[in-house]
Amino acid sequence: MEGIAKKIVFLTNKDERGALTVVENQKQIPFDMKRLFYIYGVKDEAARGNHANINSEFVMAALAGSVRVKIDDGNQIEEHILNNPAEGIYIPKMTWKVMDEFSEDCVLLVMSNELYDNNEYIRDYDQFKEKVLRR
Ligand code: TYD
Repeated sequence: MEGIAKKIVFLTNKDERGALTVVENQKQIPFDMKRLFYIYGVKDEAARGNHANINSEFVMAALAGSVRVKIDDGNQIEEHILNNPAEGIYIPKMTWKVMDEFSEDCVLLVMSNELYDNNEYIRDYDQFKEKVLRR
């Protein structure tokens, strides 16, 4: 079965001065980015996410440190460890997401095709499962 997330290797330019990684719309990411946010300073044991989005798709990458991303499309479950700023994962819409095991220094970059809209969040897992079954 095909997986839920797609691994993305960003374009990285390395030289003696260090590295520069590029993310461009419709190139390294498969959408036009309207929003980016980053999550950091996450306390030990804290889990973030715990929701699905009806319209938003995402690319996530750990710019520093590491984090576990658990995703569930209602049919299959996957776990990804993000710990490389030159790589990310693409997560389609209607995917339940939980991010946990943040290292203290983790900075998780999230890019999306949509502006923030609280109304497109599904925060109840049973509701999410129901919606998946009705598709
Ligand atoms: P929340 O959805 O709880 O973050 P996470 O997915 O990491 O668990 O969002 C935290 C707060 O930030 C909440 O009050 C909503 C707000 N927020 C925005 O205003 N814009 C955004 O793009 C996002 C993702 C969150």
